[in-house]
Amino acid sequence: MAELSVEIAGIRLRNPLLLASGIWGESGQSLAGAWDAGAGGVITKSIGSEPRPGYPNPTVEEFGSWGMLNAMGLPNPGIAEYPREIAIARDRGALVIGSIFGGTAEEFARLAREMEATGVRALELNLSCPHAEGFGTEIGSTPQDVSDVVRAVVREVKVPVIAKITPNSADPAGLAVAAEEAGAKGISAINTVRGLAIDTTLARPVLAHGIGGLSGPAIKSVGLAAVWQIYRKVTIPIIGVGGISNGIDALEYVMAGARAVEIGTAVAHEGVRVLGRIVRELDDTLTERGVARLADLVGAAHRGFNVPTADARP
Ligand SMILES: Cc1cc2nc3c(=O)[nH]c(=O)nc-3n(C[C@H](O)[C@H](O)[C@H](O)COP(=O)(O)O)c2cc1C
Repeated sequence: MAELSVEIAGIRLRNPLLLASGIWGESGQSLAGAWDAGAGGVITKSIGSEPRPGYPNPTVEEFGSWGMLNAMGLPNPGIAEYPREIAIARDRGALVIGSIFGGTAEEFARLAREMEATGVRALELNLSCPHAEGFGTEIGSTPQDVSDVVRAVVREVKVPVIAKITPNSADPAGLAVAAEEAGAKGISAINTVRGLAIDTTLARPVLAHGIGGLSGPAIKSVGLAAVWQIYRKVTIPIIGVGGISNGIDALEYVMAGARAVEIGTAVAHEGVRVLGRIVRELDDTLTERGVARLADLVGAAHRGFNVPTADARP
């Protein structure tokens, strides 16, 4: 057996697989189920100040095995209702990371205090939802915004703060640098990629909201590129997310620079048992290759790699 345990933002995880925010994480029972299925930690649905029903249906369009498009509209029960769900998951022994979203730095800071009080081990700031006006990408799309939110939250809480950044920006690594400088202890990359599907019979967007976020295997290389570029710019741990559905996908992210990974759409498609399967696949691959510790492979693809110049001749 290889050593899969890793440390992110000062937290020791039994393995590097985290349940991604928004998939399976709305109730305490479902968070605990993902933990029991083998996750190294579970991230809650992003929670806001007030209960939100989310957008009307259709909110999800499936593209078969390669991905899905969603515009849920951040449905959530609101921070006042949520502590009881976290208590259920924690009572079952789960390592819980609380995800929050807000419209301003002050709102994030207030939510962060309330989320910290539930006993979560870290906070993940959703600075990156591509389809909720006033939240997510709109607030997290410039380094200044990221910096303002992270700084405001870090001032308020003792638990480590992880900034989840958007790929829908010209320079995701610049956003990560801003988060690190503002005091974040980790970066999650990436959230969904802005996307659209059109129903040609009705001549209108498929999703009620129109624009949505693409996830699943279709975005794996987008996530890998973001992690690769961020690794070259920051020193805090990176959590890779986007399109991971097997052990080799997870290993690609680790070699690109991720210390841990999150699994979203694969859980939506296969259920939480996918978490245990990916852990086993990672373990088998490392054992076959004679690698004792996963942590030794973090960023391995960067070692000795130099971008060739276009005019280089062998
Ligand atoms: C249905 C759905 C809901 C999501 N809700 C959230 C959310 O509440 N907060 C968040 O930070 N990310 C949310 N995400 C983004 C995922 O956490 C993840 O970053 C993204 O889907 C890419 O990973 P994947 O390809 O493994 O799904 C959601 C994704 C999906 C598909």
